Amino acid sequence: MGKVISFINQKGGVGKTTMAFNAAFALAQSGKKVLTIDLDPQANLTLLFEAKNSVNLHHLLVNSIKELKMIHVPALLSEILHYSKGNVVVDLIPGGQELSGFDLTVASINAPRQLVLKKFLEINGLKDRYDYILIDCPPTLGLLVINALCASDGVIIPFKADDFSHKGLEHFYQVLGDIAEMGIVKAPEVILHVPNLVDLRRKHEQDDLTKIIETVDNNIGEGKVFSPFLNKAGLVKTLSGRKSVFDFKGQEFVDLQGKFLGIAGIIEEWANVRQ
Ligand SMILES: Nc1ncnc2c1ncn2[C@@H]1O[C@H](COP(=O)(O)OP(=O)(O)O)[C@@H](O)[C@H]1O
Ligand SMILES: [Mg+2]
Repeated sequence: MGKVISFINQKGGVGKTTMAFNAAFALAQSGKKVLTIDLDPQANLTLLFEAKNSVNLHHLLVNSIKELKMIHVPALLSEILHYSKGNVVVDLIPGGQELSGFDLTVASINAPRQLVLKKFLEINGLKDRYDYILIDCPPTLGLLVINALCASDGVIIPFKADDFSHKGLEHFYQVLGDIAEMGIVKAPEVILHVPNLVDLRRKHEQDDLTKIIETVDNNIGEGKVFSPFLNKAGLVKTLSGRKSVFDFKGQEFVDLQGKFLGIAGIIEEWANVRQ
């Protein structure tokens, strides 16, 4: 069975999309079948894949709900699935601005509203078709993200080393606890935290990072924080070219490739003991 992993943080601009995109290509490098899902109405991941679909995840989700199916445009997974070009293949279910209406659309249904995405993955047998399904989450802890958490086996949390992130992290752990308490699904495991856009020359960033690592050690366990990503112009260059770091040559890119392969290795290790 494939594993579902959400890239999550209620804050924007911390690297969720960047990490999900490059981690997907890192896993695909080692021959894994990878599907990415763009759950963000802003659809930045979809932009990176240069996918231009008129129908998107929102339509698929709505169509997977029996009570809503009749009143919405039909949409098939096969029409929507987008394949990357380049050296290795990564699949994408695109997102779109319609997703911002998800909460309202499902407000009246009787089926559990937090399990729509999980049911959708099940109905389509996606965990059998892929080794990994990576979900790029929007910067909220709203119903869409609760759907991602309920559908996920694991989560990866990119963050910036500041005081706000520290508070945000504690809030996020609380949400995981709430999901476990509901008792409907198993809460996802925290696989890794990834400090991003870190400036180690700034003393207060170092202090904030140390504090955050302490919080992670106490709540989740030791060794769950990856080595920091610094602010890398090279990474911006790859993204504006709509490519992963694996499509570039040169030392800066080799270093970045090594880091994303490192994250892929941690994901694989985590998944292997959970088969
Ligand atoms: N390590 C990094 N170095 C330089 N720029 C980065 C780095 N990580 C992310 N960025 C840039 O920061 C912005 C926000 O990243 P993004 O992945 O879109 O965050 P999120 O999905 O959490 O909103 C993007 O423009 C991205 O290119
Ligand atoms: Mg994003």
